[in-house]
Amino acid sequence: MKTLLAAYCAVSLLSACHNADSPAAAWCYHEPTCSDSAWPKIVPSFCNGTRFDGNSALTKIRNTGNTIRVDFAPGHMNVSGGALPTNYTSLQFHLHWGNGSYSLGSEHSVNGKRYPMELHIVTAKSIYHGNTTRILADSEGLAALGFFIEATTEKNQPESWKALTSYLTTITQKGGYANITHNFSMADLLPGVDMTKYYRYHGSLTTPTCNEAVIWTVFKDPVKVSQNLIDLFSMTVRINDSTSMHMTNVYRSLQPINTRVVKTQTEDQSASEVLKPLFSLTLGTAFFQMLLYTT
Ligand SMILES: *[C@@H]1O[C@H](CO)[C@@H](O)[C@H](O)[C@H]1NC(C)=O
Ligand SMILES: *[C@@H]1O[C@H](CO)[C@@H](O)[C@H](O)[C@H]1NC(C)=O
Ligand SMILES: *[C@@H]1O[C@H](CO)[C@@H](O)[C@H](O)[C@H]1NC(C)=O
Ligand SMILES: *[C@@H]1O[C@H](CO)[C@@H](O)[C@H](O)[C@H]1NC(C)=O
Ligand SMILES: *[C@@H]1O[C@H](CO)[C@@H](O)[C@H](O)[C@H]1NC(C)=O
Ligand SMILES: *[C@@H]1O[C@H](CO)[C@@H](O)[C@H](O)[C@H]1NC(C)=O
Ligand SMILES: *[C@@H]1O[C@H](CO)[C@@H](O)[C@H](O)[C@H]1NC(C)=O
Ligand SMILES: *[C@@H]1O[C@H](CO)[C@@H](O)[C@H](O)[C@H]1NC(C)=O
Ligand SMILES: [Zn+2]
Repeated sequence: MKTLLAAYCAVSLLSACHNADSPAAAWCYHEPTCSDSAWPKIVPSFCNGTRFDGNSALTKIRNTGNTIRVDFAPGHMNVSGGALPTNYTSLQFHLHWGNGSYSLGSEHSVNGKRYPMELHIVTAKSIYHGNTTRILADSEGLAALGFFIEATTEKNQPESWKALTSYLTTITQKGGYANITHNFSMADLLPGVDMTKYYRYHGSLTTPTCNEAVIWTVFKDPVKVSQNLIDLFSMTVRINDSTSMHMTNVYRSLQPINTRVVKTQTEDQSASEVLKPLFSLTLGTAFFQMLLYTT
């Protein structure tokens, strides 16, 4: 606890973190101005099933050579609430994975637990209208939402992921893309996730200066997806042309938590006034990579 980074990186989300059985250390701070009623719901548009029904928000799916990325139609999915400072517009989502069931590929891990895949929705402050220069100049210009993907043995579930992965065979090579014609929404891809339960921290641009650049939200509930669909990512798409390697292990190595403060809701919100020790959340640093995808 040798720097004041905690204050620097403190977020507006009141937190006491309930999971204390961890060897790693981090800290939570009490912020008396936050009351329980100030816990907003994050991403109300997700919680609101009607708003993003249909597929109009999801336009194209691409093989970038580094990941599989899906672009949002500009302005079609906004993110607000969840103690984010303002409104954000979703730009794209992309995925990180390992090698099927042989190696796990989530970028975050919670209490040492990793998942086969992780989905990242990248959003930028709406007021910048996608201007990368302005987004980058703002320490809160980006907000990223992370969702863990957990494997299930049932085949081809959920339907939305079956539809999503059906495009992979047409985008096996770098630069390949397909127009999304299936009728599934972002919310359809995230069944079973309670949008009010998440971890929050400010990510850093570079370690020496620790510029905050992205507000991270990592949801606690994993999305359950069939192992056979998860396997398609590492078995179908390639990093370049048809002679190149399959795209596997597309995640950054785990980073130490250092002095970053991770916050979360308490199980019992009435206990939120109490300072509690934190769990370990190992951080990925895919930030730069994600930004490149947005331009
Ligand atoms: C859900 O959508 C309705 C209609 O668009 C809106 O009135 C309501 O405020 C929304 N609720 C949330 C939680 O966003
Ligand atoms: C897409 O699905 C939604 C509900 O899931 C439905 O209301 C809508 O009519 C469907 N659109 C098309 C073009 O099938
Ligand atoms: C998202 O926000 C922009 C303004 O920043 C607005 O023009 C657009 O209609 C919003 N989209 C939705 C789906 O609410
Ligand atoms: C954010 O979006 C909501 C819903 O579209 C709108 O009511 C609110 O005024 C916006 N806030 C800002 C700061 O633009
Ligand atoms: C991925 O796993 C398969 C076994 O299913 C193995 O043959 C292959 O070498 C692995 N690839 C990498 C890059 O580890
Ligand atoms: C982005 O913003 C910068 C700084 O305000 C401005 O100089 C530049 O012209 C903008 N770019 C576009 C494409 O609008
Ligand atoms: C995607 O849609 C656009 C316009 O709707 C069309 O011009 C383009 O050829 C389509 N691309 C593919 C790969 O289907
Ligand atoms: C990627 O594939 C293209 C097309 O076959 C080829 O020209 C290029 O040299 C390859 N790049 C690498 C880094 O292998
Ligand atoms: Zn990412």
